[in-house]
Amino acid sequence: AKRIPLIAGNWKMNFDHLEATYYVQKLVWLLRDARFDYSQCEIALMPPFTSLRSVQVLVEADKLKIHYGAQAVSVTTQGAFTGDVSADMIAHLGCSYVIVGHSERRKYHPEDDANIVDQVRAVLAAGMQPILCVGESFEERRQGIELDFAVGQVRDVTRDLSATEAAKLIVAYEPVWAIGTGMVATPDTAQQAAKAIRGDIAAMFGDDVSQTVRILYGGSVSSKNALDLIEEPDVDGFLIGGASLDPDEMARIARIT
Ligand code: G3H
Repeated sequence: AKRIPLIAGNWKMNFDHLEATYYVQKLVWLLRDARFDYSQCEIALMPPFTSLRSVQVLVEADKLKIHYGAQAVSVTTQGAFTGDVSADMIAHLGCSYVIVGHSERRKYHPEDDANIVDQVRAVLAAGMQPILCVGESFEERRQGIELDFAVGQVRDVTRDLSATEAAKLIVAYEPVWAIGTGMVATPDTAQQAAKAIRGDIAAMFGDDVSQTVRILYGGSVSSKNALDLIEEPDVDGFLIGGASLDPDEMARIARIT
């Protein structure tokens, strides 16, 4: 494949730092037991901020081949912003990725496109890769405008980026109706969206960039549906919520992918 698949587990607000330590040890043990080939598929964990240091210590002490990142980031660099965490603070913990614009953040926090653009810039400036989440709600799908909607969300956030910056982007297509519902998108639906997003990235930044950017699918992914989804040419991996909380499931999905 042109792009190495990425399996990212978004823990959302689950696990304290002791549970995180146990989880990482178990996952790594399961993958070792299965003789998992890390060169064929990249694994990333996205714990809450409070567990990032624990994950870093384990990964560095045992030279583990897993990556990790944060679920959100401040758009400012430092100062009087109570409760915020800067991109540099996250980068200094060895993080590779930051999720940006997840639908839950768009819903429960005042994250609009302008704020999401600034998060993307902050993540890139700190030397990490943003995982930009987009995807239509059921209402947009009912109106038949789902592809334009998802493509538009990517475009709104990326239009002012340079091609070099855009090449570092990871996009997660997560239809809101599929998140946490058990209603996984069909492989064809995921492929159509990923293809449309890649096509628009090509129009904006050229073929080289569009062939570099990994486009993940997210929404009720499990070991039961991962194989059919990953066989689609424009689906480069998964952003997994619920199923990622079980290290056995995470290991199974990684092996399938
Ligand atoms: O970031 C992950 C997505 O929100 C998917 O969550 O796998 O629980 O549906 P889910």
